[in-house]
Amino acid sequence: MSSTSPSEQGLKILRQQRDQLQQQYRDFKNMQLSLDITRGKPSSMQLDLANGLLSLPGDQYLLNGTDTRNYGGLDGLPPMKALFAEILEISVDNIIVGGNSSLNMMYDTLARGCQFGVPDGTEPWHRIETRKFICPSPGYDRHFKVTEHLGFELLTVDITDDGPDMDQVETLVSSDHDIKGIWCVPKYSNPTGSCYSNDTVKRLAEMPAASDFRILWDNAYAEHHLSDDRPELANIMEHCVAAGNANRVIEFASTSKISHPGSGVACLAASDINIADIKTHISVQTIGPDKVNQIRHLQLFKNLQGLRTHMRKHAALVKPKFDLVDEILERELGDLGIATWTKPKGGYFISLDAPDGTAKKIIELAADAGVKLTGAGAPFPYGKDPRDRNIRIAPTFPIVEEVGQATQVLTTCIKLAASA
Ligand SMILES: Cc1ncc(COP(=O)(O)O)c(C=O)c1O
Repeated sequence: MSSTSPSEQGLKILRQQRDQLQQQYRDFKNMQLSLDITRGKPSSMQLDLANGLLSLPGDQYLLNGTDTRNYGGLDGLPPMKALFAEILEISVDNIIVGGNSSLNMMYDTLARGCQFGVPDGTEPWHRIETRKFICPSPGYDRHFKVTEHLGFELLTVDITDDGPDMDQVETLVSSDHDIKGIWCVPKYSNPTGSCYSNDTVKRLAEMPAASDFRILWDNAYAEHHLSDDRPELANIMEHCVAAGNANRVIEFASTSKISHPGSGVACLAASDINIADIKTHISVQTIGPDKVNQIRHLQLFKNLQGLRTHMRKHAALVKPKFDLVDEILERELGDLGIATWTKPKGGYFISLDAPDGTAKKIIELAADAGVKLTGAGAPFPYGKDPRDRNIRIAPTFPIVEEVGQATQVLTTCIKLAASA
């Protein structure tokens, strides 16, 4: 995303329109709106698409002789593992299916590293007082919170259209072996929609780093395209293996925003050595995951093609909302040079940069006019946007009319704040 210093011409126009803008803002306030574009959640219409789950598996709970109602199957039902293996393009032996939340699996992965250490490491991370983690920003606030909670210092690097700024990443990890990992959302990154380029993936796999450095490769939006225009993502595991760093990456995915987020199925994928290590720990933690949930997901989707057909139905509901936000932003702000925003090809968010120092003010103005936006700074480590300019727009949850109204109010607030 480019810098957002307002153009002189844009400011001149806005200042001339200031009375009109203030009137517009008062009109919005008088409408007593109550709109919310904070939540990166599927709408209820999207959830309805998977309602078949609610009556599955019925009495079809046996899978090749396995009674899914009973204990066992630590790493998941074989066809569920196979489905995730196909999504992540990795061998089925390198998959562990978990519970309903990939974030939970990420937390556990790092908590295990802190408590016990990881293969190739020399000590548990909790012994390293100055342990650090790289957070490409703006990014996913919950990732950052996990590493903050586990006592890592959070190191910010910029995110570009091609993924994290790799010059910054390489400089950091080559000189400081207390840096134990990096958060990555490689496809339709939250919130910028960035997709990692081949070069970024290769450099992440090859760069010199601590022997126990881990890439947390959160492929949450692997199947969440808005159209058939789909960027290809290089295979991180293949690059890591080729570079002699097979243990460096742990991949994650889930059906949260494919079926029902509260009751989806999550997985992780890793090298043989990491999988063996993780199993020694999870075999103590649990007797096995929820296989009834797995079998009903398999019955609903049948296979990857079925899942992809399902995701096209999501896209049909979601894309008009993304298009509408973009159309309003373009119409209201396009010529003014006061904001830039992303045009993602998938995922759940649009990330907007307003002029430096105005995001808090804009979010406050919008809230006073009845439009709730994600808190300023939320997508940055420690909740602090160093330039106070980033605004995350989550268009999926409200109905399309509300998305339009909320975006209209937002643009008025941006213009008011920029021209103050
Ligand atoms: C990048 C990213 N990862 C993970 C999650 C949560 O995934 P899960 O529901 O599998 O825990 C989200 C939810 O918004 C997300 O945006």
